[in-house]
Amino acid sequence: MTQDELKRAVGVAALAHVVEDSIVGVGTGSTANHFIDALASMKGRIRGAVASSVASAARLAGHGITVLDLNDVSEMPVYVDGADEIDANLCMIKGGGGALTREKIVAAVAKKFVCIADASKLVDTLGRFPLPVEVIPMAREHVMREMVKLGGKPVLRAGFVTDNGNIVLDVAGLAIVDPPALEAAINQVAGVVTAGLFARRGADVLLLGTPQGVRTIRRP
Ligand code: 5RP
Repeated sequence: MTQDELKRAVGVAALAHVVEDSIVGVGTGSTANHFIDALASMKGRIRGAVASSVASAARLAGHGITVLDLNDVSEMPVYVDGADEIDANLCMIKGGGGALTREKIVAAVAKKFVCIADASKLVDTLGRFPLPVEVIPMAREHVMREMVKLGGKPVLRAGFVTDNGNIVLDVAGLAIVDPPALEAAINQVAGVVTAGLFARRGADVLLLGTPQGVRTIRRP
């Protein structure tokens, strides 16, 4: 099976976690796109969706799925999204698509985070994938210096602006042995909007696409 077929399989498998007559939180990226396409098959059985990016909102709307503003939603049983890396504790690196801040906000409202990922995303230690950090533009150099102090090698994501009008630094070289501690440390740096570490609020369930089928892994 190709990586895209594995992504599609987990996108379809995530439908089993969607609660009927509820509002669904929807992530961003190629795996989340497969989920959105699958969700179209049950659009008559959900009240609508909250999107974590402009791109996902457009894809949902293209399928005729009602897209709601998060501020109009007080209850969301499930949020479904991909990841760039995920470990056995279901801590994740996210933000390869640059939607990390809105993803973290929508995930914070949801009761359950269902991560959908192909098998290549499961790692022993987070950090081989450069950690995305969304930054207020005027703080770029300051945050870069702080990332170097933490042992990282930050690189500006060239030509990229987030849906919130900010920049993204991709920080390589971090062996992330204590994800919640590093998430807190980076989030405290002035000028950082969000670290793409999802550890304090990790996933509750991982649907992992493997050539043998979709494995369900729950947070220990
Ligand atoms: C976007 C994300 C994505 O979930 C992450 O980049 C995985 O993307 P893909 O499903 O395309 O592999 O965090 O900001």
